[in-house]
Amino acid sequence: MQSNLHWHEGEVTRQDRRLLTRQKGVTLWFTGLSGSGKSTVAVALEKALFSRGTLSYRLDGDNVRLGINKNLGFSAEDRGENIRRIGEICKLFVDASVMVLSSFISPYRADRDLVRKLHMEAGFDFVEVFMDCSLAVAEMRDPKGLYRLARRGEIKNFTGIDDPYEAPLQPDIHLRSDTMSIDDEVALILDYLTHKALVKDL
Ligand code: ADX
Repeated sequence: MQSNLHWHEGEVTRQDRRLLTRQKGVTLWFTGLSGSGKSTVAVALEKALFSRGTLSYRLDGDNVRLGINKNLGFSAEDRGENIRRIGEICKLFVDASVMVLSSFISPYRADRDLVRKLHMEAGFDFVEVFMDCSLAVAEMRDPKGLYRLARRGEIKNFTGIDDPYEAPLQPDIHLRSDTMSIDDEVALILDYLTHKALVKDL
């Protein structure tokens, strides 16, 4: 299917874009249960990065599923395709020299590992952030009221209820998001990124 396709190089290189923007693209991949705080911490981090002169862009489960992935559901196969497509979108942003804050449940280890592999093969940085939150706390927060519906059987295949979540074995950043404050989580991620020279040092 792909045999007659060739990547078309431009005359402006990845390195040129880095010099122009004075930042290196990277994917921060937030994974965790619904209600674990992925989107909330991404919003806070985006703001903190912006004030420090680093451009980031958020990709978020619900937003992406309302648009480019609106034809996908929540079977293991559809979740896999959801994550594969998002992984490819992340790569485009990273190539453009933008930091991507990607928040998806991404419950299957193999799907997340594939995204990491796609980044490694392209020479891109990939940082997996595990939003480690107990089901009890996520369910108590229930920001969208979906756990309640899932418990009543009105949503099928809901992660944590009647669908699995495979926790990362070696996340790059591990946050106990059921006990830590958002500010502390943001500070910890910023420390990591600074240490890895992935944010501007203004
Ligand atoms: S993923 O599993 O494919 O990574 P994704 O992060 O894109 O999921 O979407 C999860 C969001 O879809 C949840 O935050 C929730 O709002 C909504 N949702 C609807 N049905 C389900 C379901 N069966 N399981 C999990 N999330 C669901």
